[in-house]
Amino acid sequence: MLNAVQRLDTARETNCTPEMYEQLYRRSVEDPDGFWLEQAKRLEWVTPPTKGGDWSYDPVGIEWFADGTLNLCHNAVDRHVEAGRGDATALIFEPDDPATPGRSLTYAELRGEVVRMANALKAIGVKRGDRVTIYMPMIVEGVLAMLACARLGAIHSVVFGGFSPEALAGRIEGCASRFVVTADEGLRGSKRVPLKANVDAALAEPDHDTPIDGMLVVRHTGTEVTMTEGRDHWYHELASDEECPCEPMGAEDPLFILYTSGSTGKPKGVVHTTGGYGVWTATTFSYVFDYRPGEVFWCTADIGWITGHSYIAYGPLLNGATQVVFEGVPNYPDHGRFWDVVDKHQVNFLYTAPTAIRALMREGDAFVTSRNRSSLRLLGTVGEPINPEAWRWYFDVVGEKRCPIVDTWWQTETGGVMITTLPNAHDMKPGSAGKPFFGIRPQLVDNDGAVLEGATEGNLCITHSWPGQARTVYGDHERFEQTYFSTYKGKYFTGDGCKRDEDGYYWITGRVDDVINVSGHRMGTAEVESALVSHAKVSEAAVVGYPHDIKGQGIYCYVTLNAGEEGSDALYAELRGHVRKEIGPIASPDHIQFTDGLPKTRSGKIMRRILRKIAENDYGSLGDTSTLADPSLVDRLIEGRQNR
Ligand code: WT7
Repeated sequence: MLNAVQRLDTARETNCTPEMYEQLYRRSVEDPDGFWLEQAKRLEWVTPPTKGGDWSYDPVGIEWFADGTLNLCHNAVDRHVEAGRGDATALIFEPDDPATPGRSLTYAELRGEVVRMANALKAIGVKRGDRVTIYMPMIVEGVLAMLACARLGAIHSVVFGGFSPEALAGRIEGCASRFVVTADEGLRGSKRVPLKANVDAALAEPDHDTPIDGMLVVRHTGTEVTMTEGRDHWYHELASDEECPCEPMGAEDPLFILYTSGSTGKPKGVVHTTGGYGVWTATTFSYVFDYRPGEVFWCTADIGWITGHSYIAYGPLLNGATQVVFEGVPNYPDHGRFWDVVDKHQVNFLYTAPTAIRALMREGDAFVTSRNRSSLRLLGTVGEPINPEAWRWYFDVVGEKRCPIVDTWWQTETGGVMITTLPNAHDMKPGSAGKPFFGIRPQLVDNDGAVLEGATEGNLCITHSWPGQARTVYGDHERFEQTYFSTYKGKYFTGDGCKRDEDGYYWITGRVDDVINVSGHRMGTAEVESALVSHAKVSEAAVVGYPHDIKGQGIYCYVTLNAGEEGSDALYAELRGHVRKEIGPIASPDHIQFTDGLPKTRSGKIMRRILRKIAENDYGSLGDTSTLADPSLVDRLIEGRQNR
């Protein structure tokens, strides 16, 4: 372990001193209802709540602020205008190509644009409670579409623009969404992503039943697209400035659905509700980043992931912050793009993923040091464990030892940050996320569920609910209970392994289930397997993660072929292409090993432990292989790995 780094004295009145953290944390766990009702005042309610949490983990039912009503679009947008802050900058759009003009919107302008988007949604028939699929590039209209849904009380389901038509179809069908918002094309590192054509392909998927009532298409690159009469509409033709009031919503009315991968089955539509999620993202944003009016925040995530929901669309705007919305990628036009954007917009906060940090680190310091970066005040990371070397580089080179780092651990299901150090309140330890946020009660348990105390290592559970917690899986509450609350009864199980040190700092060690984290993107190995076996030549597939220098984890696939088929370079390429088509480029296998069999127990269970070890090139500790139906297979697998 690298030495701890002392909290930096940033010489300004701070949101949270060490003493305040201790005091607030204590209050938050001793009197959670009082604490959270107090925090709820950060938002403007139509009817302020009188109830805090009302929840049980066995059976599972979770409510927060249940008797309150509010609208989150009002809170993110209109409220700031009404309070006289309409001239403050809300969004600064930085396009993929730095030579293209960007765009900047004040809160007053944002309000006008959200109203236009909401009117366009109304014009295609969207009403309160309807699900709206948003499949957009990282442009202002993506954020507008989310906020416009919130304004109308419609439930948004954002699907990452990198997912394939097949994956998109599953997500439209999964929540019976009858409306889609998309763009003609997206741009990423000068590459064009045919979003509208992908939606058309998704709607034509033979295996899916995805009828939709209406689609809004934002003109972005101006490329020609096919418009289906009566179904597809140009956004700019339907946008209008009529008044469009915010719909008052119950605190427990769903705000959005976001699909995420688990260890089994298809991706789950995780549901977040209005009041608790709003309070959670507003509160965490304020404390974790210690944001002050006028400062410029930049989260590099895509709105297709939870990070983009909580720390682009909601958290910053609920706090009236100014933020950058970035369409591009870190390495276009060159590896200094992040720092160009930082200088151009005088960014004070950068929130990004370890995979991006590692990729930039590899390109050398000159791309960083040739840019000024003096505006930076705080750095954040999220999405996967950060290795101490990358942490050190981020701290020393990018932040010149001036900027605290927050390593924020959380999940799609947690709605916002759960474990982190707070700038000014805590010393930092490279590689450790740090301490629980207010109201969060982590617990480490062994595989049998026995509670582990003190400095130890185990499976990370959370014992008490918090406002930002997901409430259910859309349309399948049983799956919600089963997935998160049945492994250790009465506790929320995160799926992560974790160490706790003598100072009470938490060190996430990675997933302990069949989920892998590739470049900060969560993927179920079962999803990749099912994509592989849907290929006509594949008989069986087993997929595991292995350590990868840049991506954190890579995707390693073991494939057995149908009788008469032979593994070849051509088939290798064909299978990679097939997985990309079924899921998307983020699921591209890094390695495919053709094998004549998979290591199974006599009862037919695949021994993934062995496959993981072989993928890791670690043959010394394969463990007991005597229970295998065919122990000799192990040698053939190792040989196959080495000959690849
Ligand atoms: C999984 C959740 C949090 C939003 C983006 C990912 C891993 C996330 C950290 C971190 C170590 C982390 C965990 C978690 N993870 N942040 N700071 N340190 N691991 O959300 O797609 O729901 O994935 O990402 O394994 O379970 P997600």
